[in-house]
Amino acid sequence: VDLQQANTLGLPCRAECFLASDSLTEIRDALRQAAERDWSLTVLGGGSNLVLHPILPGLVLQPTFSDFRLEDIGRDEVRVHVGAGVDWPRLVVALAENGLWGTENLALIPGHAGAAPIQNIGAYGVELADVLEEVHLLDREGEAYRLRRDECAFGYRDSIFKHELENRVVITRLVLRLSRQPKPKLDYGDLSSRISSASPDALAVVDAVSAMRREKLPDPRQVGNAGSFFKNPAVDSCDAQRLLALYPQMPHFPLLDGRVKLAAGWLIDQCGLKGLRDGHVGVHDRQALVLVHHGGGNAAELLALAERVANSVQERFGVTLEREPRLMGRQAPS
Ligand code: EPU
Repeated sequence: VDLQQANTLGLPCRAECFLASDSLTEIRDALRQAAERDWSLTVLGGGSNLVLHPILPGLVLQPTFSDFRLEDIGRDEVRVHVGAGVDWPRLVVALAENGLWGTENLALIPGHAGAAPIQNIGAYGVELADVLEEVHLLDREGEAYRLRRDECAFGYRDSIFKHELENRVVITRLVLRLSRQPKPKLDYGDLSSRISSASPDALAVVDAVSAMRREKLPDPRQVGNAGSFFKNPAVDSCDAQRLLALYPQMPHFPLLDGRVKLAAGWLIDQCGLKGLRDGHVGVHDRQALVLVHHGGGNAAELLALAERVANSVQERFGVTLEREPRLMGRQAPS
């Protein structure tokens, strides 16, 4: 099966054995057969945070459960049960339309709900872990179980699903906990200045966040990309002081553990790489943290550009950049 349309970078990729399904029985059967044959397992969501090599071996599963249901718990709190295949940006709009608070800052993040816990999606001062109660999963043998939020080892763009449980589980459902009480979080960047009302509704926040994202981030339907290609690096305070002495205007955010988070986009921008084009790939011209694929390229080309970018930042600032999207599959035999 050709997966070029199934990843937002638009990289060429073929799966040896692909199943998209919203049937628990069908997914369980496929998992058992793959386990018996000792095949590897890859789970695809919306394909918006992946770098795919040309061949995905073993079983490739895409859960498409697309139901969602609200459950009132107490006066102001609502539990939301969401199938893994639900489109995240649409879900965020639907929740805001229902007057529910908690996910509005996560508007317009492309991908399926089931993929959201893997990188603990985050934007504008909010991350999934702030609203997630539980994740429902299947293990490699097709047995169902659940993890509570505190069992998911959430961190910045990180979770247990990138480590111990990588390629070992299928996320089938999320349970979120949201509020009917207005809880706007508008302190990131200039978000608050974009909202005119003193008491905005959740949909007004969704609109403001969406407008900010549209200004800076390329639409994957227009140019291939996977959002931020690098994590924002955390450096120790000595390194931060050293850099700030040289670059007083450098954006920096102190972390609770004493380290300081830097803006990878700013570091790349300072290296003069914003808007760079290198064959079929390049650095986005409005947000240097995003690498783009103009078509006709492949994962190897994109990774070579990523290395070039990371090397420039290393040489100029002594800061190491780490890739954010997950790398999957293998190169074609030459
Ligand atoms: N900056 C530049 N030049 C650039 C890009 C950024 O100077 O080319 C500066 C900005 O002016 C700002 C700072 O860097 O002072 C931070 O930029 P921005 O607010 O745009 O956010 P970011 O740190 O670049 C992170 C997330 C985004 C998320 C935004 C908003 C990561 C890796 N990225 O980007 O997440 O939408 O904050 O919260 O943490 C994603 O993960 O795919 C993603 C898009």
